Amino acid sequence: MKKDLITVEDLNAKEIMDILRLAKKLKKRPLLKNKVFKDKTLALLFQKPSNRTRISFEVAMVHLGGYVLYLSPREIKMGTREPVKDVARVVSRYVDGIVARVFSHEDVKDLAKYSDVPVINGLSDLVHPCQALSDIFTVLEKKKTFKNVTVAYVGDGNNVLNSLLLACAKVGINMKVAVPEGYRPEKDILNKAEKIAKKKKASIEIFGDPHKAVKGSDIVYTDVWVSMGQEEEREKRLQDFRAFQVNEELMKSAGSGAMIMHCLPAHRGEEVTDVIDGKNSIIYDQAENRMHVQKAILLRMLAK
Ligand code: CP
Ligand code: NVA
Repeated sequence: MKKDLITVEDLNAKEIMDILRLAKKLKKRPLLKNKVFKDKTLALLFQKPSNRTRISFEVAMVHLGGYVLYLSPREIKMGTREPVKDVARVVSRYVDGIVARVFSHEDVKDLAKYSDVPVINGLSDLVHPCQALSDIFTVLEKKKTFKNVTVAYVGDGNNVLNSLLLACAKVGINMKVAVPEGYRPEKDILNKAEKIAKKKKASIEIFGDPHKAVKGSDIVYTDVWVSMGQEEEREKRLQDFRAFQVNEELMKSAGSGAMIMHCLPAHRGEEVTDVIDGKNSIIYDQAENRMHVQKAILLRMLAK
């Protein structure tokens, strides 16, 4: 049976560790001698813009000897030109896998439901699983272990945080989250992550004060305050998140060894300052790792 990756929950801890191990090997040797994906085609069905997700998947497929079709919002017009289920049924007759970036999480779920080939979620309004899996790979690369590692997330309880909570819980990374009132992560996801973390003897703590959250953390992670699709809320959000900027003062509270992560794109002057250009920032390694981890995901999901 085909397997989809719609949320981090679709993978158990063993499968996640297997992907991370494979990604480590692939990072050392990005070009496989044997072009295992010769004649395989991946469709990137994107309703929103992208730099990292699009390029890292495209290059990963090239390295594997496969072919990519990038379908921008103008081509397919999923949900308006034709229903999601017809798009899924038709596209999956042509290609071996689909990566979808959508506004509504329901759409990527429907794509997976009606598609005969694996569907990978390349970001929805609810979650961003490929980002989170790459992020824990980066944490492991930098800290060499998940044990007693704490990631503090400061800012919006959005798609990136939802997936990060699940991924960190699955591998036993502690999380401290600082969000303004009204911007907490999705309730069901938080509950699930808390249950998973408990089994792994890891903790998830929610704070209102970012300084308290980052204290003693190994990594400080942030993301934009206005996600794609939330542009109309921009002015209100800029006000509501003012005290949640990752800047020098906040990094002093974290301690001198704390590293900075950001899924990018970053808005310097909003959620972050030029601290992300400093020596403690690992944002570009984090971005690079998208490619290695997604290559491992493709190998595990499309190889049959
Ligand atoms: N982090 C991330 O997904 O970047 P893009 O939106 O550029 O793909
Ligand atoms: N939260 C952001 C992530 C972009 C990679 C968004 O959804 O726009």
